[in-house]
Amino acid sequence: MANTTQKSPAKRETFNSRLMFMMAAIGSAVGLGNIWRFPYVTYDNGGGAFLIPYLVALLTAGIPILWFDFAIGHRYRASAPLAFRRMARWAEPIGWFKAGVAFFIAIYYAAILAWAGLYTVKSFNQAWGDDPESYLMNDFLKMDSSSTFSGDFVLPILVTLIAVWIFAIAVLAMNVNKGIGSLTLVFVPVLIILFVIMVVRALFLDGALEGLNAFFTPDWSALSNTSVWIAAYGQIFFSLSVGFGIMITYASYLKPRSNLTGTGMTTAFANSSFEVLAGIGVFATLGFMSVTSHVAVGDVASGGIGLAFIAFPTIINQMPMGALFGVMFFGSLFLAGITSLISIMEVVFAALSEKLGWNRATTAIVFGTIMAVLSTVMFASTSSLVILDIMDKWTNNLGIVFCAAMALLIVAWVTGRRNEIAQHLNAVSSIRVGRIWEFCAFILTPVALIIMMFNEIKSMLAEPYGGYSSAQLNLFGWGTLAVIVIAGIVLSALPYSKKTITDRIPGSDFGVPAKGRRKGEPNPLVVGAVSSSTDATSTTSTTPRS
Ligand code: PFF
Repeated sequence: MANTTQKSPAKRETFNSRLMFMMAAIGSAVGLGNIWRFPYVTYDNGGGAFLIPYLVALLTAGIPILWFDFAIGHRYRASAPLAFRRMARWAEPIGWFKAGVAFFIAIYYAAILAWAGLYTVKSFNQAWGDDPESYLMNDFLKMDSSSTFSGDFVLPILVTLIAVWIFAIAVLAMNVNKGIGSLTLVFVPVLIILFVIMVVRALFLDGALEGLNAFFTPDWSALSNTSVWIAAYGQIFFSLSVGFGIMITYASYLKPRSNLTGTGMTTAFANSSFEVLAGIGVFATLGFMSVTSHVAVGDVASGGIGLAFIAFPTIINQMPMGALFGVMFFGSLFLAGITSLISIMEVVFAALSEKLGWNRATTAIVFGTIMAVLSTVMFASTSSLVILDIMDKWTNNLGIVFCAAMALLIVAWVTGRRNEIAQHLNAVSSIRVGRIWEFCAFILTPVALIIMMFNEIKSMLAEPYGGYSSAQLNLFGWGTLAVIVIAGIVLSALPYSKKTITDRIPGSDFGVPAKGRRKGEPNPLVVGAVSSSTDATSTTSTTPRS
């Protein structure tokens, strides 16, 4: 038996069922990106015509990279840094860069959740009054856009943000089934039900049809515009949570024989269906606003914070039974966000627990507290919106895109593990991958990502983003990226705990025996059992740790 040569490592926890894993993956994918990003990106990039590049991006990048992430996590049974290290010892920093980006996204994402939570309560009496914009900026956030960092705090946000952190840390301190598993098993269906009710309600509003017309009317000329195609790839990447290290981490908790490609397809289509539903709901609602305030839908259309915290409150004010609608809308934002927040925190915690050899609870409590403190200091302050806007732009539009492109290029073209990954997917899954998948994952998508990154850098250098001062941009944008890179290199240089098996041991399966493979099939989970024409096993150490 090949795997008898291996010393017995600590057994990795696994999700009890495929459904649980799928709910966790869908919970991560369905987030603010679906509710407040997709509708506006679609509207802004050709309306109905955008669905073509969107579908192309889903099929050529979204699903192929989701399969890639699943395969990496599942085959190497580890979070991003260790998974990459097991592929090639020097590739570990890529995993840490992902964990670093996840760290910063988590600390600001939690703040948005705190706002959504507070706005859910404020919906009852429409506490934002007649001028939701002024309320948001002056009363709620008490925004100070001029100082680099204000150091003044807003009490209600501080308290709610701490509550969000305590909740998230408590969930992640439990094992994957009790924590992530049970949470998503309840929250995802509740979110879907709540959201469907809200969309149906929106469809019965006056002007809903005008909104939908504005949303779906295709502008075919958009299809010849490169930036529209780039927007489609950007949306798919963000929306499916691929390239974040999330899907790698979650897939590492799957049982050895798990249908990766089938589950990936279901996750992707569920996510996109939710997204289209959100587009319908949001634009039906905006149609109502356009009719009641006699302006074109284009003038009221927006995305992000402006849509959720300014446009929606304005609409809720004018709507019959607005309070109920508000609770459903902000409640949905909160539910969608919390399952995404947990997924991105898990990237950080799983990586650190493997490095330090700490158990899940200790890691969650110690590092969760550090993150919570940083998050509170930055985002319960009156500088919150400025820091959030800049950090979001730099981590998402540069950080993730860079890490995703590097991961694909390095895995495919440098470590020589391309075939190994394809064979792994084929050995465990229902849908088999071949040359088309390889082309999409390892050529087309990296090219799209690199173009995206250069466009972004070009526009960032052309003029100061958002009109912010260079001190603000350097500190919260470039500074964040610098911290991620330095921390990634330092963490890669630090040794792993003796409890963690780091290297590829020929014949090992990284801790979980593969049962029930088909007759005559090489054990896909055993390193060395899958042969590959370009496989360069020599790129990694094959010596077991002592
Ligand atoms: N797919 C998520 C979304 O659409 O909002 C992307 C995401 C963002 C995941 C932030 C996790 C996260 F913390």
